[in-house]
Amino acid sequence: MGIPQPAFYMFKCEQSAPPGMPKPSCVTPDTQDLFQYLAQKLMKEGIMGTVQPIRTSCLNRCSSGPVMLVEPGHIMYAGLTKEIIDRIVSEHIIGGNIVEEFVISSELWDAPITPADMKKQMGI
Ligand code: FES
Repeated sequence: MGIPQPAFYMFKCEQSAPPGMPKPSCVTPDTQDLFQYLAQKLMKEGIMGTVQPIRTSCLNRCSSGPVMLVEPGHIMYAGLTKEIIDRIVSEHIIGGNIVEEFVISSELWDAPITPADMKKQMGI
């Protein structure tokens, strides 16, 4: 038997804008321990490995930060706190139900454009 692939990847934005920059940041002094919290939560639940947390750079939804993308599913969670991470892990990752109340607004996260369609739009 082969090594099983993860069931989920959780891409937590770890971009931190320098103080004074106009762009909001997903990592501030108040939120800087969220990735570590997520990793500890997965370990406590005994699901680290089949759920892989990933530190990522900007996911281009900075104004809604801290944000985290869950794959598979293209689910983008916004405004993260420790309490919200607990709910995402127990209800979505373990329970199988997306926690709609913390999903980014659809105005900011509309259906994707396929790369083939984007090339057509660009005329290339
Ligand atoms: S800094 Fe996190 S989405 Fe841009």
